Amino acid sequence: MNKFDFVLEEIKILTKNATDKTEYDHSQLVWQWVLKLKPDADIALQISALGHDIDRSFEDRKKRQDFATYDEYKKEHALLSAQIMCNILQKYDFDKTTIDKVKHLIENHEVGGEGDVEILKGADSIAFFNNLSHYRQLHTQEQTIDKIKFMYERLNEKAKLMINSINFKSMELEELFEEAINKIILKNMKVILYMAISANGMIAKIDDNTSWISETEWNSYSSMVCNAGCLIVGQRTYHTLTKQPEFSEFKNVKLVVVSNNDFPVLSPNHQIATSPKKALELLQDFDTVIVAGGGILNASFLKENLVNEVYLDIEPIILGNGIKLFNGDDFETKLELLETKQLSSNELQLHYKIVK
Ligand SMILES: NC(=O)c1ccc[n+]([C@@H]2O[C@H](COP(=O)([O-])OP(=O)(O)OC[C@H]3O[C@@H](n4cnc5c(N)ncnc54)[C@H](OP(=O)(O)O)[C@@H]3O)[C@@H](O)[C@H]2O)c1
Repeated sequence: MNKFDFVLEEIKILTKNATDKTEYDHSQLVWQWVLKLKPDADIALQISALGHDIDRSFEDRKKRQDFATYDEYKKEHALLSAQIMCNILQKYDFDKTTIDKVKHLIENHEVGGEGDVEILKGADSIAFFNNLSHYRQLHTQEQTIDKIKFMYERLNEKAKLMINSINFKSMELEELFEEAINKIILKNMKVILYMAISANGMIAKIDDNTSWISETEWNSYSSMVCNAGCLIVGQRTYHTLTKQPEFSEFKNVKLVVVSNNDFPVLSPNHQIATSPKKALELLQDFDTVIVAGGGILNASFLKENLVNEVYLDIEPIILGNGIKLFNGDDFETKLELLETKQLSSNELQLHYKIVK
């Protein structure tokens, strides 16, 4: 056996004897994820991966309740694990450069930093997802969602892609993961619902006719969509909107149609999503997303509390019959008026913030 094998064996014995029976698996997983993130990882990085949490294998381990804050606890835990690993490496006569690097990596594995520290932090975060069911057993759904958010946001882009290869083997965990990711996406994105309405809140006549909407209004809507670069519409709106000649203005806009059905889309820039949340996921690279009807889609976005702001352009017309601005779902949403604007002598724009 070489020196690395001795260290590997010692960590194996310590972690297998730990009170928490997940310590051994976690140590091995972080090692494996390090090798996936950096196949040519040096000995110091590999040893740090195996031993980054080693203090948890001892009876007198640092405990969260002994510290005022979680950060203080994490810092002490990292310092003690680094010290234990350095003692082990000295016992096997490792060189000073390797020992110093292991000390640096383990001391900083919770906070991250440059180069290999970041690889170790990423591998540690990915390994958490392998063992999500264990975390869930000991915590509430809300705590699990918060922890998923925390661990996911620590990951770099490469590591985030690797999470997709993990099978949670549980519908509940899949749903908690999806909810956490949605919260992250929404936190970083402004969702604007933009609609033209009649003075009595209709968005189209029963036969889909919207010829009563003015050119001024279209121009305001079009520039909002083109500036955002993306648009979400319901299936019925997709099939009416794309027939209008003005739709050519959106040739560079990424468009997501929400539908439970599959049908051919009209451009490689268009995609189908089966729910409002999935539509937002597809647009997560955009800062601002425009949701623009019709009534059924608008209602489901508001019911799911996915909208931040609403623009309503009021046309000078009353329609006795028509398609309602919000249709099909029951909900109550409070608004705060941010701005009113006169679009033309006869049209008013209301700009609201959704009160969350
Ligand atoms: N005035 C305006 O500014 C404005 C703007 C946009 C649209 N419009 C008008 O609005 C009318 C269409 O409105 P609409 O309410 O009848 O239809 P819509 O909301 O455009 O489309 C409804 C369809 O979208 C899909 N969908 C909506 N929400 C969904 C969800 N949560 N999950 C899965 N699929 C969902 C379903 O498609 P599947 O049945 O395929 O599953 C549903 O049947 C058109 O006349 C259009 O011209 C007016």
